[in-house]
Amino acid sequence: MKDNKILIFDTTLRDGEQSPGASLNVHEKVEIAHQLAKLNVDVIEAGFPISSPAQFEAVKRIAEEVDCIIAALSRANEKDIKAAAEALAPAPRKRIHTFSSTSDYHILGKFGHERYGKTLEEKRRTIIKMSYDAVAYAKTFTDDVEFSAEDAGRTDIGYLAEVIEAAIEAGATTVNIPDTTGYTLPFEFAAKIAELKKRVKNIEKAIISVHCHNDLGLAVANSIAAVQSGARQVECTINGIGERAGNASLEEFVMALNVRKDLLDFYTDINTKEIYNTSKMVSAFTGLLVQRNKAIVGENAFAHESGIHQDGVLKSRETYEIMTPESVGIPKNNIVLGRHSGRHGLKVRLQELGYKVTDEELQNVYKAFTELADKKKEVFDDDLRMLMGDEIQKDNG
Ligand code: KIV
Ligand code: ZN
Repeated sequence: MKDNKILIFDTTLRDGEQSPGASLNVHEKVEIAHQLAKLNVDVIEAGFPISSPAQFEAVKRIAEEVDCIIAALSRANEKDIKAAAEALAPAPRKRIHTFSSTSDYHILGKFGHERYGKTLEEKRRTIIKMSYDAVAYAKTFTDDVEFSAEDAGRTDIGYLAEVIEAAIEAGATTVNIPDTTGYTLPFEFAAKIAELKKRVKNIEKAIISVHCHNDLGLAVANSIAAVQSGARQVECTINGIGERAGNASLEEFVMALNVRKDLLDFYTDINTKEIYNTSKMVSAFTGLLVQRNKAIVGENAFAHESGIHQDGVLKSRETYEIMTPESVGIPKNNIVLGRHSGRHGLKVRLQELGYKVTDEELQNVYKAFTELADKKKEVFDDDLRMLMGDEIQKDNG
């Protein structure tokens, strides 16, 4: 693998499906997994098999049918890992993804019982041992084992380095640094990754991955910052869906790398022309609507309404577009006609509808158009046909 390739680990079917309000049946998960393979992601995290029979079944079906590295999640215990291994068994390329909680918030909140140790320090030692044992056990099923330090974003760097080192010693081939609560800032997260590279013995034996949540709207920015510090796998979801405010959005991260190649010397193998189809499918199946102004895939992402913008884009796209809609699989940009639109946008739309207008006719119809646009949010094609009426001759030639 080239050193500037960034692996895309898609967790739409696991973390994404954990979005409040989203749930997918087995058939829908399998369909999405096929589409993710078409999008050419490197790893598909298909689910959390121990969590329910349907989850187990979905992971198994995806492992049987979809040609990609298929990952399944497990906590750091034998029962979970065994379930993940069983569900993944049919996959020619499989990854067990196991995780432990490492921040003091999580350790005290989830491992309060004395059997994990009486003091925080004792509990921390227990977690290191659990993590080591979990990775070693997962390795008995597959060589490809990922370890995640949950809430790494809020974990003390010295302790985090110890946990990651233990996971690598046990055989983890990917070590994931999640910002589980979306708490970190880009420069801080970048420094954390750089510090781990310095502190962890044998860090070069594993791929450093990041998994950023979006509670402060920084998931994509944090992922980019981490890549600049040496992370080579980014975990993300389609449309940025996921727990609470969601995960890093796959389409935003990938297109940021593509569009800003001048400053970011990294690439992914994503077939960007499949982005829009995938976004539509995930939205339809989960029932989670994409906000209109969402970057890359929102309805307005390539729409232009104001006269100045329409005129600029119609003369030369680059004036207001930093990427083409076609590059993400959207057939063309959208000139939305409304109260801010100008004559140029109106004229082009009329031509698209088959009307050939003289300058004088355009003046007249533009006046009628602005009066109508003041009363409506958007002026549709049928409104224009009505406005044209007998006033302007239709030219079908
Ligand atoms: O956010 C998180 O920490 C996770 C882990 C299980 C990787 O989803
Ligand atoms: Zn997560």
